[in-house]
Amino acid sequence: MQIVKYQFQQHGDERGSLVALEEFKDIPFEIKRVYYMYDTAKGVTRGYHAHKNLEQILICIHGSCKVKLDNGTEKKIVYLEKPYEGLYVPNNMWREMYDFSDDAVLLVLASEYYIEDDYIRNYDEFLNMLQQNKDK
Ligand code: TYD
Repeated sequence: MQIVKYQFQQHGDERGSLVALEEFKDIPFEIKRVYYMYDTAKGVTRGYHAHKNLEQILICIHGSCKVKLDNGTEKKIVYLEKPYEGLYVPNNMWREMYDFSDDAVLLVLASEYYIEDDYIRNYDEFLNMLQQNKDK
Protein backbone atom coordinates (compact mmCIF):
# COMPACT_ATOMS: atom_id res chain seq x y z
CA MET A 1 0.00 0.00 0.00
CA GLN A 2 1.38 3.35 -1.02
CA ILE A 3 1.01 6.16 1.50
CA VAL A 4 0.50 9.55 -0.14
CA LYS A 5 1.65 12.36 2.12
CA TYR A 6 1.65 15.85 0.65
CA GLN A 7 4.28 18.36 1.74
CA PHE A 8 2.57 21.71 1.32
CA GLN A 9 4.47 24.82 0.42
CA GLN A 10 5.26 26.91 3.48
CA HIS A 11 5.31 30.68 3.17
CA GLY A 12 7.50 31.59 6.07
CA ASP A 13 9.23 34.78 7.06
CA GLU A 14 10.23 36.50 10.28
CA ARG A 15 6.52 36.93 11.12
CA GLY A 16 5.83 33.20 11.09
CA SER A 17 4.48 30.57 8.72
CA LEU A 18 1.51 30.26 6.43
CA VAL A 19 0.19 27.42 4.29
CA ALA A 20 -2.36 28.02 1.52
CA LEU A 21 -4.29 25.18 -0.08
CA GLU A 22 -6.19 25.42 -3.34
CA GLU A 23 -8.44 22.74 -4.77
CA PHE A 24 -7.08 20.92 -7.84
CA LYS A 25 -3.68 22.53 -7.23
CA ASP A 26 -2.44 21.58 -3.77
CA ILE A 27 -5.43 19.29 -3.12
CA PRO A 28 -6.29 16.70 -5.80
CA PHE A 29 -10.07 17.22 -5.60
CA GLU A 30 -12.76 19.86 -5.22
CA ILE A 31 -13.03 20.72 -1.52
CA LYS A 32 -16.73 20.47 -0.67
CA ARG A 33 -16.42 20.19 3.10
CA VAL A 34 -13.99 21.03 5.88
CA TYR A 35 -14.22 19.70 9.42
CA TYR A 36 -11.86 19.38 12.36
CA MET A 37 -11.48 17.44 15.56
CA TYR A 38 -10.09 18.94 18.76
CA ASP A 39 -10.29 18.38 22.53
CA THR A 40 -10.11 14.67 21.78
CA ALA A 41 -10.29 12.74 25.04
CA LYS A 42 -7.29 10.68 26.14
CA GLY A 43 -7.15 7.14 24.78
CA VAL A 44 -9.92 7.75 22.23
CA THR A 45 -9.84 6.25 18.75
CA ARG A 46 -12.05 7.89 16.14
CA GLY A 47 -12.96 6.85 12.64
CA TYR A 48 -13.55 3.09 12.45
CA HIS A 49 -15.06 3.43 9.02
CA ALA A 50 -14.39 3.57 5.29
CA HIS A 51 -16.11 5.53 2.53
CA LYS A 52 -17.51 4.30 -0.75
CA ASN A 53 -16.66 7.49 -2.68
CA LEU A 54 -15.25 10.14 -0.39
CA GLU A 55 -11.61 11.22 -0.65
CA GLN A 56 -9.96 13.19 2.12
CA ILE A 57 -6.80 14.97 3.14
CA LEU A 58 -5.96 14.86 6.86
CA ILE A 59 -3.78 17.60 8.30
CA CYS A 60 -2.81 17.72 11.96
CA ILE A 61 -2.54 21.52 12.06
CA HIS A 62 -1.63 21.50 15.76
CA GLY A 63 -0.25 18.78 18.02
CA SER A 64 -0.02 15.22 16.75
CA CYS A 65 -1.97 12.03 16.15
CA LYS A 66 -1.65 8.69 14.43
CA VAL A 67 -3.73 7.34 11.57
CA LYS A 68 -4.09 3.64 10.81
CA LEU A 69 -4.97 2.95 7.19
CA ASP A 70 -6.22 -0.45 6.12
CA ASN A 71 -7.09 -1.39 2.52
CA GLY A 72 -8.34 -4.83 3.48
CA THR A 73 -5.06 -6.60 2.81
CA GLU A 74 -2.45 -4.26 4.25
CA LYS A 75 -2.34 -1.91 7.22
CA LYS A 76 -0.07 1.11 7.67
CA ILE A 77 0.34 3.60 10.49
CA VAL A 78 1.10 7.22 9.70
CA TYR A 79 2.21 9.79 12.26
CA LEU A 80 0.92 13.30 11.64
CA GLU A 81 2.63 16.14 13.47
CA LYS A 82 3.37 18.88 10.95
CA PRO A 83 0.88 21.58 9.94
CA TYR A 84 2.33 21.49 6.42
CA GLU A 85 1.82 17.76 5.83
CA GLY A 86 -1.36 16.25 4.44
CA LEU A 87 -2.24 12.56 4.38
CA TYR A 88 -4.35 11.52 1.41
CA VAL A 89 -7.01 8.97 2.27
CA PRO A 90 -8.75 7.53 -0.80
CA ASN A 91 -12.15 5.87 -0.91
CA ASN A 92 -12.42 2.20 0.11
CA MET A 93 -9.89 2.68 2.90
CA TRP A 94 -10.61 1.81 6.53
CA ARG A 95 -9.21 4.48 8.87
CA GLU A 96 -8.68 4.87 12.60
CA MET A 97 -7.27 8.00 14.24
CA TYR A 98 -5.75 7.70 17.68
CA ASP A 99 -2.96 8.81 20.05
CA PHE A 100 -4.15 12.41 19.83
CA SER A 101 -1.99 14.78 21.83
CA ASP A 102 -3.95 17.03 24.23
CA ASP A 103 -3.49 19.98 21.91
CA ALA A 104 -4.19 18.11 18.65
CA VAL A 105 -6.36 19.72 16.00
CA LEU A 106 -6.99 17.38 13.09
CA LEU A 107 -8.28 19.20 10.03
CA VAL A 108 -9.99 17.22 7.27
CA LEU A 109 -10.59 18.40 3.71
CA ALA A 110 -13.26 16.31 2.04
CA SER A 111 -14.29 15.84 -1.59
CA GLU A 112 -18.01 15.41 -0.79
CA TYR A 113 -20.69 16.78 1.47
CA TYR A 114 -21.62 14.75 4.53
CA ILE A 115 -23.56 11.74 3.27
CA GLU A 116 -24.23 9.08 5.89
CA ASP A 117 -24.97 6.58 3.12
CA ASP A 118 -21.36 6.85 1.93
CA TYR A 119 -20.06 5.42 5.22
CA ILE A 120 -19.17 1.77 5.80
CA ARG A 121 -19.04 1.44 9.57
CA ASN A 122 -18.81 -2.32 9.85
CA TYR A 123 -15.43 -3.94 9.16
CA ASP A 124 -16.85 -7.20 7.76
CA GLU A 125 -19.09 -5.19 5.46
CA PHE A 126 -15.98 -3.30 4.33
CA LEU A 127 -14.20 -6.56 3.43
CA ASN A 128 -17.32 -7.82 1.63
CA MET A 129 -17.52 -4.63 -0.40
CA LEU A 130 -13.87 -4.97 -1.47
CA GLN A 131 -14.55 -8.55 -2.55
CA GLN A 132 -17.65 -7.47 -4.49
CA ASN A 133 -15.65 -4.73 -6.24
CA LYS A 134 -13.04 -7.34 -7.21
CA ASP A 135 -15.70 -9.71 -8.58
CA LYS A 136 -17.16 -6.97 -10.82
P1 TYD B 1 -18.29 10.67 13.32
O1 TYD B 1 -18.57 10.20 11.92
O2 TYD B 1 -18.65 9.80 14.45
O3 TYD B 1 -16.76 11.06 13.44
P2 TYD B 1 -15.49 10.06 13.33
O4 TYD B 1 -15.97 8.80 12.69
O5 TYD B 1 -14.53 10.78 12.45
O6 TYD B 1 -14.96 9.85 14.67
O7 TYD B 1 -19.01 12.09 13.48
C1 TYD B 1 -19.33 12.64 14.74
C2 TYD B 1 -20.62 13.43 14.63
O8 TYD B 1 -20.47 14.56 13.78
C3 TYD B 1 -21.77 12.63 14.07
O9 TYD B 1 -22.94 12.96 14.82
C4 TYD B 1 -21.94 13.15 12.67
C5 TYD B 1 -21.41 14.54 12.73
N1 TYD B 1 -20.78 15.00 11.50
C6 TYD B 1 -21.40 15.92 10.70
O10 TYD B 1 -22.53 16.39 10.97
N2 TYD B 1 -20.77 16.35 9.56
C7 TYD B 1 -19.56 15.88 9.21
O11 TYD B 1 -19.00 16.31 8.17
C8 TYD B 1 -18.91 14.89 10.05
C9 TYD B 1 -17.57 14.34 9.69
C10 TYD B 1 -19.56 14.50 11.17
